[in-house]
Amino acid sequence: MKSILLAGGTGSRLFPVTLGVSKQLLPVYDKPMVYYPLSVLMLAGIREILLISTPEDIKQYERLLGDGSQWGITILYKIQPEPKGLAEAFLLGEEFIGQDSVCLILGDNIFYGLDFSSQLEAVVERTHMGAQATIFGYSVKDPQRYGVIEFDETGKAISISEKPETPKSDQAVVGLYFYPNEVVAIAKTIQPSARGELEISSVNQHFLKEGKLQVETLDRGFAWLDTGTHESLLEAGQFIETIEKRQGLKIGCLEEVAYEKGYITKVQLLENAQSLQGSSYGDYLIARYG
Ligand code: TTP
Repeated sequence: MKSILLAGGTGSRLFPVTLGVSKQLLPVYDKPMVYYPLSVLMLAGIREILLISTPEDIKQYERLLGDGSQWGITILYKIQPEPKGLAEAFLLGEEFIGQDSVCLILGDNIFYGLDFSSQLEAVVERTHMGAQATIFGYSVKDPQRYGVIEFDETGKAISISEKPETPKSDQAVVGLYFYPNEVVAIAKTIQPSARGELEISSVNQHFLKEGKLQVETLDRGFAWLDTGTHESLLEAGQFIETIEKRQGLKIGCLEEVAYEKGYITKVQLLENAQSLQGSSYGDYLIARYG
């Protein structure tokens, strides 16, 4: 399976902060925001990643993440000339996806919870084997603000609606999607919405109509954090700080994930850590693995 990490957009809700820097490069406590979705992909066992960003910002992502070999993964880059919507990822990524299935993750979504990697691995396996698409639902207290998904007891999607006035469930659709290869052909058929974007919800509607949309729930106790506003960005940083300080473990630490998954050796991990020495991130790796 391949993956596309979307790190473009305008970030207008974070203006003026994002006038000079891409949203997904902003810090969430002790590391850049993009580390968190990248760690999710690595935990899912996905090692071929296409990062999409704006013409202005792509160079900074290359500077930060390089070719990914330091974490035993491959990162390629593609420019999205204008923010024309999430589903454009499949058009920009067509060649990269080839004949594979694909996961799309939003660069400003943070996931944290027990057994997430085994849940992800199972979804990767299922997507690989069959023609089903999978999206994730998360219980929220204000579903009107989100894409809302209704599903039956087997997890099969029944309806999706964008920011509904009267939501049919409390399950918001999060920024993590798994699709069979067919998604590329589907993305080519969808039309821009009223706001001029190729919407991911149009892609999902297509799979829904064909009875091929499965919903996984992120259970009670799981944290799904969005970082799109000043408040939510600050809260996400505080959340990460609280858990990391309490447990003495890091969330979204790419060297650690790469080592634990067997993508890099301890020697490679420590080489990376040396270059970060003096920061709490680098010192954590040295103290834990040195
Ligand atoms: P949004 O949060 O919907 O948009 P945004 O990041 O531009 O922020 P704002 O609404 O404040 O202007 O985007 C979700 C994610 O997808 C985010 O990580 C940015 C990314 N994105 C792209 O990479 N390309 C796009 O065309 C769009 C719309 C979003």
